Amino acid sequence: MSKDLFLPVIETERLTLKPLVLNDSQSLLEIFSDPEVMRYWNTPSWSTLQDALDFIDESAALMHRQEALVLGIYLKSTGELAGKCMLFSYDRESKRAEIGFGLGRVYWGKGYISEAGEALIQYGFTSLGLRRIEAEIDPNNHSSAKALEKLGFLREGLLRERWEINGIVSDSAMYGRLVSDHRT
Ligand SMILES: CC(C)(COP(=O)(O)OP(=O)(O)OC[C@H]1O[C@@H](n2cnc3c(N)ncnc32)[C@H](O)[C@@H]1OP(=O)(O)O)[C@@H](O)C(=O)NCCC(=O)NCCS
Repeated sequence: MSKDLFLPVIETERLTLKPLVLNDSQSLLEIFSDPEVMRYWNTPSWSTLQDALDFIDESAALMHRQEALVLGIYLKSTGELAGKCMLFSYDRESKRAEIGFGLGRVYWGKGYISEAGEALIQYGFTSLGLRRIEAEIDPNNHSSAKALEKLGFLREGLLRERWEINGIVSDSAMYGRLVSDHRT
């Protein structure tokens, strides 16, 4: 596969999705150090600039190895970084990957995930040749569930007591969307 496939710049009406750069570290830290944003994440909130720098480095390495796409979500109007979205756990043979996304709190409720998510999904289906995109979320994460349903994902099941983080046990709700799914 061409290595540029894992370094895309994807344009939508209001957003540009493209790989993160070291200059994004401060904005990224502001977003992912917010406990509200990280509430349902399975990793702790970030606390230092190094957390953001490490994430950017690891993302670049994953993309270089063609194992994941990790893209910043930038507003076209101002150039601000609003969040990130990713396709990860990429299984080339099974033509499947997992989707994840997160926006800074001030960017919620503006339809940015509907817009960025659909563009990322189409890229996954058409350019990466995926057949299936899946998502695993905490069933209490209602805004994420709603965003996934708006993106045409079906809730396929519940994995009970799948996580234990800091002594707190939680289930996972599994969602999937197939390239062959017809959206209503
Ligand atoms: C999950 C998350 C990204 C969803 O963000 P969001 O802003 O609710 O989702 P969207 O960008 O799709 O916005 C949808 C809302 O914006 C509103 N909206 C405003 N302007 C809009 C526009 N121009 N187009 C579409 N929707 C618009 C819609 O009405 C919709 O609200 P409604 O569904 O209540 O009617 C966000 O809550 C988040 O970052 N959470 C923390 C991280 C996380 O938990 N990620 C999930 C793990 S994968």
